[in-house]
This record gives sequence, structure tokens and C-alpha cells, in this order.
Amino acid sequence: MKQRYRNGQIIEGIITGIQPYGAFLSLEDGSQGLIHISEISDEYVRDIKHYVTQGESVLAKVIDVGGADGQLRLSLKALNYSSRKNRSDKDYKRPLVPKNIIGFKTLAQKLPEWIYEKENMMVTVDLKHALLQEDVMQYQDEVNRIHTMINEKTGKGSEYTGWVDWADRYDKAEFARVKSAALRIREQAEVLLVCGIGGSYLGARAAIEMIKGPYYKDSLEIIYVGNTFSSTAIVRILDYIKDKEVACNVISKSGTTTETALAFRLIRQHMEERYGDDAKNRIYATTDAVNGLLKPLADAKGYETFVIPDDIGGRFSIITPVGLLPIAAAGIDIDEFMDGVTLATNELNSPKLEDNPAYVYAAVRRMMEKQGKSVEMFVAYEPHLVYLGEWWKQLFGESEGKESKGLLPASVNFSTDLHSMGQFVQDGSKILFETQIRVNTPIVDGIVSHEEDDLDQLNYLSGKSLNWINEKAFEGTLEAHEVTGQVPNVLLNIDSTSAKDFGYLVYFFFKALAMSVYMLDVNPFDQEGVEVYKKNMFRLLGKK
Ligand code: PA5
Repeated sequence: MKQRYRNGQIIEGIITGIQPYGAFLSLEDGSQGLIHISEISDEYVRDIKHYVTQGESVLAKVIDVGGADGQLRLSLKALNYSSRKNRSDKDYKRPLVPKNIIGFKTLAQKLPEWIYEKENMMVTVDLKHALLQEDVMQYQDEVNRIHTMINEKTGKGSEYTGWVDWADRYDKAEFARVKSAALRIREQAEVLLVCGIGGSYLGARAAIEMIKGPYYKDSLEIIYVGNTFSSTAIVRILDYIKDKEVACNVISKSGTTTETALAFRLIRQHMEERYGDDAKNRIYATTDAVNGLLKPLADAKGYETFVIPDDIGGRFSIITPVGLLPIAAAGIDIDEFMDGVTLATNELNSPKLEDNPAYVYAAVRRMMEKQGKSVEMFVAYEPHLVYLGEWWKQLFGESEGKESKGLLPASVNFSTDLHSMGQFVQDGSKILFETQIRVNTPIVDGIVSHEEDDLDQLNYLSGKSLNWINEKAFEGTLEAHEVTGQVPNVLLNIDSTSAKDFGYLVYFFFKALAMSVYMLDVNPFDQEGVEVYKKNMFRLLGKK
């Protein structure tokens, strides 16, 4: 009903008619609006069809809710979209919502042909707020070429693309061993020390935090070590575990990473002192099958070992025992996790952009670069997704930041960081776009109660759910950033933070990453730049 709308509100609708004097917009609830020709653009509008197309979805601002004819009066120019007009080609119209929009659920019932057919996929990409200046479909030929390269393993660094079909061929016997070890750890210990750095811990931490949520209660506490040289962190952790029952999962593919090896030496010494020979039954090593120093050390000490496959690099290794053991030890169902990975492996295997949201996201990243952006800011509205952001930053930063190319991956958690970074996003230099991860269903929700005296004047929220308030914060911020700040927003939607959603999301990002980085003609799978600091550090440390 019209009465639900207010002046200044940004609404979304479909252009259902174009007349010489204006364009008609149909809203989801059946309301109609008119965008008068004078409200299309600040510039002289000769032909409205140069700006909007019949059937196109647009955002418009309500400028009058009380038209005598029962129609809302709407404006496009108030949203500063006038630049959408012509480029060199007079008939060119920049769609606000590209035809291949993904995840446009609200209008699905009305205009099914407009909707991305596979909108029920576990990750959908919504480009309505991405302020795209081009149609993503122009990348189809390039996507076809790179898709073949990924699948046929002919691209740069293809010896590390084992993750592509890992879901079809992982070692089921080892998977079962991971589950038994996880159960044993839960029986043995109050604290599990996950000792690893970069790809050897970020994925597990992202998974555990995202799936379990903040402040979860469990008999097993997980502490991440081996990811810093900070003396304070290391000594404090050793002190913290002094009187606790501990187990340790040391994870290092190379088996030579100094942060991890050093922390592990200290932990191992503590555990040997405390448990004697039984220490070996509480230490689990995840490493290369033969190479490096950790495998021979583990064999010599008698630890149970798990293999990181040769053809899967560190930042892709969350789907191997690197991620699986800590995740299972945290009490998470790793069958469900692998179900998500498997589903994504099957669903995200089409080269067709209209069928593959991962490739759409990949192409959009490159389009953003063409539109002058150099920073991609990962945004979540849930504190338990902070480490998903950390994992994502490593995945994209270490894969793409080469040969002076690539988007800088940054991350924020809203609304918390709206009070720190919000100012820059809104008003600072226009170097960034936002990639938001949207979770439809929170782990838990609560209701705001009513207070008679209303001293804090929050009764206007009485009866509302906390998640609803978080949603409104998101909607208000989206409008502020996109419409007022002209900051493009790419929305990635998932239903929940379940293990299956997480598994799907991880593979979604792998596939998007490979496509996106190959578009830069860069090897996504090496990280030689990381060696420079090590070389200098080893020289200063006097390593022979
Ligand atoms: O993605 C990568 O390859 C890196 O981030 C590694 O995971 C990280 O450097 C740790 O290496 P390793 O597992 O060899 O100790």
C-alpha cells in the first residue's frame, strides 16, 4: 500500500511503461509510481528510453507519496544516477540491475524470467547496489577460456589446483581417522592448541568462529598458537595452559615455518615435561606426506599424522585435514562441511555466467578495478564473521597481490566499524567498493523488552528483534554508502552460518578467486613475495 512509503525513501521497482512524459514503475506490493521526465536526469532528457528500459529494475527515490491519481511520485535524478545515460552510443543504457542479476528474490514471483534461474544456490550474488557501468556478460568469452584452463589444469600454477575436484577424491579412510582423532582430543583435553600460521590456521578459525558463534560453551577451548613471534603472546599462552589438560594439533605443510616451529618446540617441551611419554598421544601433526622437517619429527616422536596433499596450497587447505581436524575437534559435523564443499563443486562448475555466481563475483571484481577501485572491503554484520574476513583477506591478498597488480583486500565488521571506518567509507577517497556477506538467519535472536519509564527512550524498539535492528542498520548503511556516498556494494547472500553453508562458501571463494586472478594473467597459487621478509629475518637471526 502506498501509505507505507515515505518521502525520501529509496524503493526498487520494475519499469512497466514508458511515455513521452515519464516512466511508470511497478513496486513489489502492487503500488505504482511515476518518474516524471523532469525527474529522470539533471541533464536535458530528449528520450526517456535513453535512460530506462521497459522491464528494467531500478532504484528510485520517493519525492511525493500523495499524488491525486494514487501514484507515488518518484525521482531517479535524486539518486544521482543521471550519469547512467548515454555513452558514445546514444541507445546505450547502463542497467542499474544487469539482466543476469543473481539473487533478486523479491520479484521472483512476478517476473521469473528476470531471475537468475539457480537462485536457490547456497551463495547468491546481488548486484543491484554495485553501481556497475558495464554488463557483466561481456566477460563470458574470457570466462569460458579461463574455465577450461582451470578444469583442464593448464593455467599458471596448475600443479596446485587439487582443490578443484578434491571433494570427489579425498581419502575417506583419512577422513574417518580425522573424526576419531577429534573425538579423542575432546576426551583428552580442556584446551586444544592449534599451532599454525596463514593457510595452516585461518580457515579452521574462520570456520569454528562462524559456525559456533561467539561465546559458545564447550568443554574444549581452542587456542591458536604458532602464528606470531610475540613473546608476550607465547609466554602468556604457555602460562595459561600450565595446569590445563592439553592436546596440540601442529599444522605446517612445509614443516619449516619458523613462527609455527618455534611455538611448537616450546609447547612440545611443556607437554613432554607434563605428560612424559604420553605426550605423543596428545600431539597430532598435519603436514606434507614426506617433505619438510615436521614429518620426520612426528614419525620419530610417534605422533599421529595427517597429510596435506601436494597439489593443494596452504590457503586452499581448509578442505583437507588442515581444517578438518580442528573443526571436528570443535564439535562441528565435518560431513556437513564436506557436503557443502561437494555441492559447490558440482554447482559452480558451469562456465556460463548466468549459472555460476562465483564467476559473476570474479568478473565484477575486475569490473570494479576498471571503474577505478583499488580496495575491496569485505563487510559482515556479525562479529563471529571477523575471521571469515581474515581468511578471505589471505586467500585474495596472497593469491592476487603480484606483479604490482591486484585489489587490496580489507575487512570491517559493521556496525562496530561504522564508528571507526564508516567515515572513510562514506566520505573518503573513492578507492573502494564493499563486498558484503549477508546471512539471512542468525544463530540466535532476542526481543527488545518494554520499559514503563523509558528513560533510555528505546521503547520505539520494544517488541522488535535484535536481528531486525541489525538488518535496519545494514539497510540504512547500504543506502548511505551506495546512494549518498556512491560506494558500490556487492552483496553475497547465504542462508545461515551452518557447516554446510560454510563449506559451500569456501569453495565459492576458491572458484571466484581462480577465475578473477587468472583474468589478471597472474599465478594465483604461488606466494614468492612472502619469502623476502624471511630471507632478511634469517640473515638477522644468523640462520645457517
Ligand atoms: O597459503 C599459504 O601457502 C601460506 O599462507 C601458508 O599456509 C603459511 O605460510 C604456512 O605455511 P606452512 O603450512 O608451510 O607452515
